[in-house]
Amino acid sequence: MTPITDISRRKRFLAAGNVYLPHIAVIEKVIDETPTVRTFHFNFKDEKLREEFTFESGQFGEYSVFGAGEAPFCISSSPTKHGHLEFALQRVGKVTNALHRLGVGAEIGFRGPYGNGFPLDFLQGKKLVFVGGGIGLAPLRSLIWNVMDNRDKYENVDIIYGARSPADLCFKYDLDAWEKDKTINMVTAIDRECEGWTGRVGLIPKVLEEAAPSASNAVAIVCGPPIMIRFTFPVLEKLGFTPGQMITTLEKRMKCGIGKCGRCNIGDIYVCRDGPVFTYAEIKNFISSEY
Ligand code: FES
Repeated sequence: MTPITDISRRKRFLAAGNVYLPHIAVIEKVIDETPTVRTFHFNFKDEKLREEFTFESGQFGEYSVFGAGEAPFCISSSPTKHGHLEFALQRVGKVTNALHRLGVGAEIGFRGPYGNGFPLDFLQGKKLVFVGGGIGLAPLRSLIWNVMDNRDKYENVDIIYGARSPADLCFKYDLDAWEKDKTINMVTAIDRECEGWTGRVGLIPKVLEEAAPSASNAVAIVCGPPIMIRFTFPVLEKLGFTPGQMITTLEKRMKCGIGKCGRCNIGDIYVCRDGPVFTYAEIKNFISSEY
């Protein structure tokens, strides 16, 4: 299998103009995904930017609430869907709480897109195994819809997604759509038994091991909590996936988003600039100590 592009030779995406100056965007829709996760649909105020803005699945932006600060999140919609952009976030701190308080019509700042997206050229012609946990589905869904909108370019699509409980499953409307799609092999699981739940029960690494997708001409794309990622890679190795056949996207203490502040480095890798998408081969040496 041809290896993914080496980190040192990757494109370094950077928006034009003053990179610290946010674009003003307006919230157009708010969706409660779980008790602590919300999705926001937004659009730029500037009409030209609205028409010309492009990004890749897996890239992220810095979102700001005036007076509260700025935080990085992936763009959770697919570049194949037009009309608006989406991001999803969990309420965990000052900026995310401020964002959660915003309603339709509120203005936010957006810088980006930043980082390297998922390597679509590398994925084409392959079987794709998406493995997600909790809000880790946000970057995955951008790629999944991208793949589904170009379905003939890919072979089998497996999606294995789990959360703590049914209430914690994000993007239920997507899960429903993918369940109904006969070209997708979908497994949805929750961590522990729950009254009324008839689907799979178990932690993602175990559910993945039971599903046992073939590693032949396949790539696994894994997104979720660090602990899930750490225990999922060994299962994939057991199933025959090589480190170059496993991809993930990291979020780590990002601040500037453009390789300047030094907040996101792991060794000599900058997550914002060299990632956030990496193969397991690229991060294998530090993932056990850092994640
Ligand atoms: S976030 Fe500043 S260097 Fe990566």
